[in-house]
Amino acid sequence: MLEIDGLRKRYGDTTALDGVGFAVRPGEMFGFVGANGAGKTTTMRIVMGVLRADSGEVRRDGRPLTYEDRRRFGYMPEERGLYQKMKVAEQVEYFGRLHGLAPVAARKAAGGLLERLGLAGRRDDAVEALSLGNQQRVQLAVALVHGPSALVLDEPFSGLDPLAVDALAEVLKDQAASGVPVIFSSHQLDLVERLCDSVGIISAGRMVACGPVEELRDAGGRGPLTVVVRDAPPGWADGLPGRLTREGDRQVLVSEDDGDDQAVLRAAVRAGRVEHFGRRRPTLAEIFREAVA
Ligand SMILES: Nc1ncnc2c1ncn2[C@@H]1O[C@H](COP(=O)(O)OP(=O)(O)OP(=O)(O)O)[C@@H](O)[C@H]1O
Ligand SMILES: [Mg+2]
Repeated sequence: MLEIDGLRKRYGDTTALDGVGFAVRPGEMFGFVGANGAGKTTTMRIVMGVLRADSGEVRRDGRPLTYEDRRRFGYMPEERGLYQKMKVAEQVEYFGRLHGLAPVAARKAAGGLLERLGLAGRRDDAVEALSLGNQQRVQLAVALVHGPSALVLDEPFSGLDPLAVDALAEVLKDQAASGVPVIFSSHQLDLVERLCDSVGIISAGRMVACGPVEELRDAGGRGPLTVVVRDAPPGWADGLPGRLTREGDRQVLVSEDDGDDQAVLRAAVRAGRVEHFGRRRPTLAEIFREAVA
């Protein structure tokens, strides 16, 4: 269990963190989301010991993190740090060695990761010759090469094409499945919703929501009633609550009203062919907008 507890951090007059805390269990994928400047990078830097908190603590299995713990973590910093002139495979191996792998193990791990991340064909190119997204893949290989005991990744998906997003998602799922706690920040909320067991929403240095994605969505209420009717005559929804829009020969009624939804259904059935009738729970993006508003 990785616990972040009561972190506070000020930069001069700016309060970056104002009591940030959450916990990530072994094997759990935790999505860390928040607007620009909310405090995600600051939190992750403190977890990794790159920055000191003014107060608060980061614990692993109940005791404060040590240098040795952190050395076994995999970290992808916001400020990407690769040696531009070094070759791709050499670089990943080098970082594996820095984390304590023997030469053969480092070579093997680097080779496997480059293969999985679609970089096998670029192994002998200098990093500076790679596109932005491919450099990002190298950065990920560097964070993963030593078989980390926890992963802390600051916007690992930014700049990746959809295939690379899928490849990385698979790698992270495997890491989590092997018992590693994974924290990553992202602005791609659909991805976080799809991938994460739990999310934390940070706003202006405070956690405004935290928990399993499904629980947050359930707690977000039932959502509006949406009815889609085809070939309905004009005026069929007169007197019904909600807002009616047309999409070709479909009419869509969206209602926040909590009244008699069965009456709405009967009216829709009388009017035409009902293609959809139901309420949907809010998406993570909708919960996010509400939480940080
Ligand atoms: N070195 C610094 N000196 C002064 N202020 C800083 C410093 N680093 C961060 N801050 C401030 O701390 C706050 C939190 O910044 P942080 O980088 O943690 O946000 P973030 O959530 O990672 O944002 P983004 O989504 O843009 O990456 C911001 O107000 C930022 O301006
Ligand atoms: Mg950041």
